[in-house]
Amino acid sequence: MTDTAPCRRWLVQVCRHRSCQRHGSVQVLAAFRQHQSRWILVAETGCLGQCSSGPTVRIMPDDTWYCQVTPEDVPQIVAQHLGQGQRLRSRLHPRFHPPEGPNSLPE
Ligand code: FES
Repeated sequence: MTDTAPCRRWLVQVCRHRSCQRHGSVQVLAAFRQHQSRWILVAETGCLGQCSSGPTVRIMPDDTWYCQVTPEDVPQIVAQHLGQGQRLRSRLHPRFHPPEGPNSLPE
């Protein structure tokens, strides 16, 4: 957490069902677990219903959906989204977050 980031606890859900697993969700899960803390809880889930665009990651409580996440994306998601409150636009799932939408988190 940075000094300016809102004080939040995060739940990072990483799909480990078949399709996402085929596309590397085990490695994505491991990468997020390296950042697990009292502020960041990382959990594996079953299918989140977005199989064609996995690995799927959902972040709560702001209900952010990321698609095609790679282990290399994880440090940036952690720093930018969880640390600074700015979604990582390049991996936002367009079904939930239209490209013209804001990338700031709701208050
Ligand atoms: S297998 Fe991951 S969203 Fe369906």
